[in-house]
Amino acid sequence: MKILNNLLANNRKWAEDIESAQPGFFQKLSKQQKPEYLWIGCSDSRVPANEIVGLLPGELFVHRNVANIVAHSDLNCLSVVQYAVEALKVKHIIVCGHYGCGGIAAALKHEKHGFIDNWLSNIKDVYIRHEEKFESLESEKEKVSLLCELNVKEQVNNLAHTTIVQDAWDRGQKLTLHGWVYGIHDGLLKDLDVSISDKTSLHPIYRIE
Ligand code: CO
Repeated sequence: MKILNNLLANNRKWAEDIESAQPGFFQKLSKQQKPEYLWIGCSDSRVPANEIVGLLPGELFVHRNVANIVAHSDLNCLSVVQYAVEALKVKHIIVCGHYGCGGIAAALKHEKHGFIDNWLSNIKDVYIRHEEKFESLESEKEKVSLLCELNVKEQVNNLAHTTIVQDAWDRGQKLTLHGWVYGIHDGLLKDLDVSISDKTSLHPIYRIE
């Protein structure tokens, strides 16, 4: 474990720095968390949720998986969403993808990666629904970027289709879903303008009354 000593040393310095800037910070946080946002992002090490949006511990509830997918039957993601919406009462859920996503790039190819190919099928499903948009694109980079954006929109819709989100809206709870993409090349976020705050924009087949 000696090899990890630098990480533990980093941690002690980090905690000391926060505590000296804001005495009692951790003591106060240990009593409760009241984040207003749920972040659903990619596991990619270059996309650290809190740092990107300048939020401290306690301010952002986070779920990350490969390629920021909200699958209809993913118990893990749905459990996070339920707790965030019903117990923490977050006001916003942000699905954040990122350009140059390895999961998205892999989904556009045919190579075998093993078990994870089952997960990447979720992204192939997005591609197939928008196949015609890719026809005019020549470079692989452009295709990956477009699929990164389309995947975020799809996952925002998937969220809106859940019983958890629709129940919240039925109760009159304020909850807005957002779709963003992060540029690992410049550190900047782009709002895809696909926010949803109620059921009116949902395709009728997904509306649960
Ligand atoms: Co990624």
